[in-house]
Amino acid sequence: MSSSTIPKGHTLPVRFAGLASYLPDRVVTNDDLAEVLDTNDEWIRTRTGIRERRVLAPNQATSDLAIAAARAALNDAGMTADDLSAIVVATTTPDHTVPGTAPLVAAALGSEVTAFDINAACSGFLYALRVGAGMLATGDSAVLVVGAEALTRIVDPGDRSVAVLFGDGAGAAILVADDQASLGPFDLGADGSDPSMLWTEAGGTRQPVDGGVLHDRSNLLSMRGGDVYRNAVARMTASSKQVLADAGFGVDQVDLLVGHQANIRILEAVGQRLGIPAERSHITVDRHGNTSAASVPLALADAREAGRLNPGDTILLTAFGAGLTWGSCLLTWQPTRHQGTTTTAGGGGAM
Ligand code: UT7
Repeated sequence: MSSSTIPKGHTLPVRFAGLASYLPDRVVTNDDLAEVLDTNDEWIRTRTGIRERRVLAPNQATSDLAIAAARAALNDAGMTADDLSAIVVATTTPDHTVPGTAPLVAAALGSEVTAFDINAACSGFLYALRVGAGMLATGDSAVLVVGAEALTRIVDPGDRSVAVLFGDGAGAAILVADDQASLGPFDLGADGSDPSMLWTEAGGTRQPVDGGVLHDRSNLLSMRGGDVYRNAVARMTASSKQVLADAGFGVDQVDLLVGHQANIRILEAVGQRLGIPAERSHITVDRHGNTSAASVPLALADAREAGRLNPGDTILLTAFGAGLTWGSCLLTWQPTRHQGTTTTAGGGGAM
């Protein structure tokens, strides 16, 4: 079965009116982890490319990260919450199982517009972009799309196979309709036939939390790393090729690859298979670790701050995550109203 794709060559007249991100203040280096785990900086750097990651404060939850990024994105767009018609939060680490995180974000912004979550794991921001763009096509005026995660809250800090990989953060974009703009084609897909490749086995309705679950710690994230690695490379490569083929684009027309930041070796392998040289791939995994649904908008905002998003540039976004899920799309970059910056808990004028 092939994955779902917008008809060949079809792009959506959608522009990023605002873009911003938020990273918690606390930096945890590989050496910090090596003090509490049987690991070391050399292993983490050579296997993953990660040097450090951000970790949210004890009094923060995913919505706090999302709200900070959302406010900064509104500021970047020169808009207020009153200008929004919908809020979509992509997260796999919601504040609560019930309710969703998006209504909490809306309330903090002082808004009562449509607000709901999307859980497509690390592909969540790509899915949310597709949903947000579709909502604009059916009458919405401005859709706030957030990728926000607090993965460090669902990993076992004593399990070195996962604890070193993940970080926390949020990225937000405001989508508006614009006949001169172009978002797409999209390729999104999912294969749920083997969810145990990357999952929290317990804690949901299949196996609610009880004493046994707490003892086994099976409510925390576990992963078959090698299988995930191979699937990530294969799926992100195939999905990227699909959108390029649908757009009728060659790889030489891609100005920048912004892929899901899980492991630098995965990004290098995808770039090599696509024929996109490393200097045209934006890397943040060294500083952010794997932030799941937040990783693509965090990397996109970081690329802009680094001066790597120029008017008219073609950006290839691609992601892969638990589910399995995957997704890719093209984005023609147009400047936002204000030059945004990444905010941190300690600063950032937009907060
Ligand atoms: O966001 C969703 C997508 N997620 C991903 O894309 C993650 C995909 N997977 C990966 O990035 C890699 O599979 C990992 C980075 C998770 C692991 O890298 P690997 O090269 O596949 O290593 P491995 O799991 O095969 O482990 C190699 C060795 C093992 O020791 P033995 O059995 O060879 O003696 C592990 O026990 O490394 C050991 N190891 C560690 N050593 C030091 C595993 N984790 C660590 C650690 N520090 N943190």
